[in-house]
Amino acid sequence: MQVIQTISELRALRNKMTTVALVPTMGNLHEGHLSLVKRAKEVADYVIVSIFVNPIQFGENEDFGSYPRTLDADCEKLAALGIDAVFAPTALEMYPNGSQSVRVVPSDIQNELCGATRAGHFNGVTTVVSKLFNIVQPNFACFGEKDYQQLHIIREMVVELNFPIEIISVPICRAETGLALSSRNGYLSDDEKSRAIYLSQSLQVMKDTITANADCDLRRVEKDCIQKLTDADWVVDYISIRNRETLAIAESTKEPLIILAAAKMGSTRLLDNLKV
Ligand code: PAF
Repeated sequence: MQVIQTISELRALRNKMTTVALVPTMGNLHEGHLSLVKRAKEVADYVIVSIFVNPIQFGENEDFGSYPRTLDADCEKLAALGIDAVFAPTALEMYPNGSQSVRVVPSDIQNELCGATRAGHFNGVTTVVSKLFNIVQPNFACFGEKDYQQLHIIREMVVELNFPIEIISVPICRAETGLALSSRNGYLSDDEKSRAIYLSQSLQVMKDTITANADCDLRRVEKDCIQKLTDADWVVDYISIRNRETLAIAESTKEPLIILAAAKMGSTRLLDNLKV
């Protein structure tokens, strides 16, 4: 497995490859990332994993500085899976001017859900993902369903900007307790980790309520969940029942639904979602 830091070397290697699946990551790889890699191996002849903690998708008060950087351990895990190449550029290689003046701006959904409290986040994601797509020119790219809004925005981008890339989504990987795997779980204390499972349990209760009663008031179901999480010391960012194809606020249980959640346990912001 080659670990490549420059765009020119990556392009030279890619030119020797037939079909390529790209797995974009920010490193600190866990089983969730590895499930993306395993899926990538099924669809293409070669797999390239990018590891880049992208500064332009972090807000000023977010955890860019403390985001875990574990390149050696990540490469060991990827080598064990027989990956062909890791692209781990420096920030200077990706942003030689120190900033990025040309940006890819997603649709207005970027301002809702996670975007409502993370201004500019999705614009940073679509910009870096477009750059990675242009550099690697993959045939496929794999993204996890845990970041469901991100997945939706990238699908829109690929269609609207005519990237000839098939986006492959991979279901959430969960710990045995039900906790959705995330690099940020590493910030949780043992006590917080055991309490964090309440988030996925709460989404399951919402799902059960909706499936048991087709006439239920979806806004009421959201409010009840927010109240229960708040009572259990969570700071809820949003609990929102959406149409899982358009991400519009769902009005009826007859739509294809997904429950999207973001909430803070202590100082750690966790995401989860559940299809209904
Ligand atoms: O999901 C992530 O890890 C990041 O947002 C991504 C897609 C690698 C872009 O930096």
